[in-house]
Amino acid sequence: MKPINVGLLGIGTVGGGTFTVLQRNCEEITRRAGRPIRIVVVADKNLELAKQVTGGACRLTDDAFSVVTDPEVDIVIELIGGYGVARQLVMQAIENGKHVVTANKALLATHGNEIFKAAQDKGVMVGFEAAVAGGIPIIKAVREGLTANRIEWIAGIINGTTNFILSEMRDKGLSFDTVLKEAQRLGYAEADPTFDIEGVDAAHKITILASLAFGIPMQFDKAYIEGISKLDAVDIKYAEQLGYRIKLLGITRRTDEGVELRVHPTLIPARRLIANVEGAMNAVLVQADAVGATLYYGKGAGAEPTASAVIADLVDITRMHTADPENRVPHLAFQPDAMVELPMLAMDDVTTSYYLRLRVADKTGVLADITRILADEQISIDAVIQKEPADGETEADLIMLTHQTREKCIKAAIVKIEALGVVTGNVTKLRMEELGK
Ligand code: HSE
Repeated sequence: MKPINVGLLGIGTVGGGTFTVLQRNCEEITRRAGRPIRIVVVADKNLELAKQVTGGACRLTDDAFSVVTDPEVDIVIELIGGYGVARQLVMQAIENGKHVVTANKALLATHGNEIFKAAQDKGVMVGFEAAVAGGIPIIKAVREGLTANRIEWIAGIINGTTNFILSEMRDKGLSFDTVLKEAQRLGYAEADPTFDIEGVDAAHKITILASLAFGIPMQFDKAYIEGISKLDAVDIKYAEQLGYRIKLLGITRRTDEGVELRVHPTLIPARRLIANVEGAMNAVLVQADAVGATLYYGKGAGAEPTASAVIADLVDITRMHTADPENRVPHLAFQPDAMVELPMLAMDDVTTSYYLRLRVADKTGVLADITRILADEQISIDAVIQKEPADGETEADLIMLTHQTREKCIKAAIVKIEALGVVTGNVTKLRMEELGK
């Protein structure tokens, strides 16, 4: 059986894992794919590292552009990351008739429409299972396993770094800054962790899932993004006392008015399975009309979990590359000519419920003033707790949970509440999701 030949761009953590797993499981993978999958060339700036990892088993180069034009290469694996050189390499690989496998969620969320169009025109496949939730086969599940369904919404813990930080903050009662340093020491968080902690990485991933779920173009620029860097440990504690956990969720939902696409810290009932996903693990909950809710759990990062997804794409391409392009599984689950433009909802128009924390003077009439403002905005209160002032203090924390309302209504109410003389500082607002049907 003639092997299918692969060119690997980038032999860092995931590239190394891909090399190792392909070698270790070569016999089983060949039995599944129908022919051997062979890495024939690796491109990396660090040739010494490439030599160590590959042990001389294939050609090495420090020129990634030579790989995307290499006549021996059938599939290019792009593991360089970012949207500069990686974009040029992917586009050139496609132009040269190579199939592409990538773990690059930033690239797909921002340039996916252009990349998939080029791939379709050229009749090549682009696999991206590794781009969302690492080793969890969530792309395959949404694109193929749930194909009978009308997908209603997806909510996912799709960033392991922030889930680790939130778990540690809750477990140990530590501040965000302290846990972030610990996460960096343990190697979970990057030296520059901005994309993770500010929710950008999760927004890239939920953008991709929204596209697959609803058959809409990638629209990362429409995503509302709020990370966890401003989250106070006291809110995690109060949420817990109220029976909730705070998770950084990527959420996309189809409503009659348009599609929600958002990432933010979210209170979810502690009894939900997804609320109990701890540490660096990922989980994605999909609500669909026929099957109901399905939950996918596993490692969202790391060498071999991500390699597992990369190799799954290699096998798919190996099986399918001789099929007519129009008979293959569409990249984004829907046939390219059946993609639709749906309105994307601005965050102000999203409806959800809220957790509010206020610092108030412990005086007669304070609660009445606040509830009147909420009532004027048609916001219904679900629960209220007032903490006793600490010894010697005259102010108390007031925590309120609201029923569902529009974001713009809660924002308007908060402006009025903050203007009350009896309220000190800003109101803390967190969104809540039941994640039931
Ligand atoms: N940085 C990501 C995370 C992993 O922390 O989950 C790669 O997507």
